[in-house]
Amino acid sequence: MCGIIGFVGNEQPLGGMLIEGLRRLEYRGYDSWGVAVGQNGTIEVAKRAGRIVKEAPTLPSASIGFGHTRWATHGGVTDQNAHPHVDCSGRFAVIHNGIIENFRKLRQQLLDAGHEFISETDSEVLAHLIEDSVGDRTDVTSVTEGVRTVFGMLRGLNAFIVLDNHSRHLFAVKNVSPLVLGHNDTGSYIASDSLALVEHVDDVHYMEDGQVAVIGPGEIRLYNHESGDQLNLDWKPLTITTGDTSLNGYPHFMIKEISEQPDVIRRIVTDGIEPVRGLAELIRESYGTFLVGSGTSSYAALSGSYLFSRIARRHVNFNVGSEFKYQEHFLTDRSLVVALSQSGETADVIEAVMAAKERGAKIAALVNVPGSTLDRMADYSVHLNAGPEQCVLSTKAYVAKVAILLLAAHILNGSEHAGREILWQSVDGIERLLSPIASDHIRNVASQIVDRDHCFIIGRGLSYPTALESALKIKEVSYIHAEGFAGGELKHGVIALIDTGTPAIVFSPLDETRDDILSGAMEMKSRGAVIIGVSPEDDEVFDIHVPVADVGDGSPIVNVVPAQLLGYQLALMRNLDPDKPRNLAKSVTVK
Ligand code: G6P
Repeated sequence: MCGIIGFVGNEQPLGGMLIEGLRRLEYRGYDSWGVAVGQNGTIEVAKRAGRIVKEAPTLPSASIGFGHTRWATHGGVTDQNAHPHVDCSGRFAVIHNGIIENFRKLRQQLLDAGHEFISETDSEVLAHLIEDSVGDRTDVTSVTEGVRTVFGMLRGLNAFIVLDNHSRHLFAVKNVSPLVLGHNDTGSYIASDSLALVEHVDDVHYMEDGQVAVIGPGEIRLYNHESGDQLNLDWKPLTITTGDTSLNGYPHFMIKEISEQPDVIRRIVTDGIEPVRGLAELIRESYGTFLVGSGTSSYAALSGSYLFSRIARRHVNFNVGSEFKYQEHFLTDRSLVVALSQSGETADVIEAVMAAKERGAKIAALVNVPGSTLDRMADYSVHLNAGPEQCVLSTKAYVAKVAILLLAAHILNGSEHAGREILWQSVDGIERLLSPIASDHIRNVASQIVDRDHCFIIGRGLSYPTALESALKIKEVSYIHAEGFAGGELKHGVIALIDTGTPAIVFSPLDETRDDILSGAMEMKSRGAVIIGVSPEDDEVFDIHVPVADVGDGSPIVNVVPAQLLGYQLALMRNLDPDKPRNLAKSVTVK
């Protein structure tokens, strides 16, 4: 949450470079943006509420600067609350990612001491705390000490960067919120995500918690926050390319990423089997396995719990990241927690993993971003290899996670070949849905429901998580209230909301759920609902039939695709940006 990029090096017109970096990070938060560059004696700031500008702000050439995209936590979406924040003397500017849980007390102390605040944010306290803590000292060592002192005063998960216009260095420190360092012939870089550095550096260092980075034009030094001891940098090659991050001719990242799904699954079946075998072995050895994730990842995890039950006859627990800590008490050093996260940065999931580690549990991760916090915390990682996912809505990472769990369940069951076969069929099934004829049909369905306020989605068994994920896709991108629920629960409340013309999507694969789910569809139809049946076979209860391939237990992988496409079309018809829905962020690094 919140994107950060910073540079120290050769003097140049930094505004354009910083804005370009922020654009790559905009998915992390996009309610306001700001950049600052250090000049002789002054810090020039340009910041504004709203989406990042296309044209770089006019800022003087400079050798030091940084930028920030915001996802508001404390304080409304206003120009003043956008980062960077500057101290009273104008010497320090600060950008921040996270929540300073004790900021009220700190702010009051600073106000009592005579500091003046411009914004309502928790972040601004950092600028004033640094000002107090460094005082008149101008050498790099003193500012480093000041940053360490201030970091020690904070409660919560935070990363911040200080631009000191006297020593002309950037100082960075983090607790959970990610930061990554890089350098080239022109200077040194820092960012919250290596995506921002993809055009500039070949190698990166992922900062660990409690490390303080001191970033100068020709060198980056690293210290332990508590002891002050200098640490070695651990450079790793940056494997993303600019090609992976471009639209490649598609109008939006959402449709690009939906279209990449067949390739994502192909890669799992061809090059990705070995890590999945390792995961299956860990599950076999464990005395209790727990799947955990947030948002779309939680629905992939829920799918996994069904797949392990029916394919491997194995009970695998499930909970969402933010609820995990209320159910962790039975974990032991023989438990396995499998954490699912596209970004590898979701604070709720990281917190769950930290709690599980404290109880001695082993951690496996299904993660798309190599080098992310979760990837580094885990004892064992399976990389999704889905390529950068830039649309805020998760699509290809979802099918990758479900495909990996399906394969792991088959491997556990001793039927790897059958698992691979299902995945190949799923590849074909998705490709058919991406054909021009199928896409036109979905567009037509969208045009029939685009003006409705509500949409209900039902599924049973394996299709229940699919119903939940489908509802999430539709509501977050189109703002139509979409509610997914277990087909059997229909009569226990939701049916009261069915009215004439209410669209109801019914997942009806050719499995043991078919008869019951069609009965549910009939009950809704009798009360006026328009039934949209997603099924390999048509049925008289369907008003609209969306044909899908019959892929057996691969149905959660294939059947979610019509919902992804429907959401995309609805967003376009409602003139919304499918890549950046309101109020959301892709990487939620606050609790
Ligand atoms: C945010 C995103 C969702 C995503 C969730 C979990 O809420 O908007 O699209 O599913 O975070 O993200 P993760 O990176 O942990 O899979």
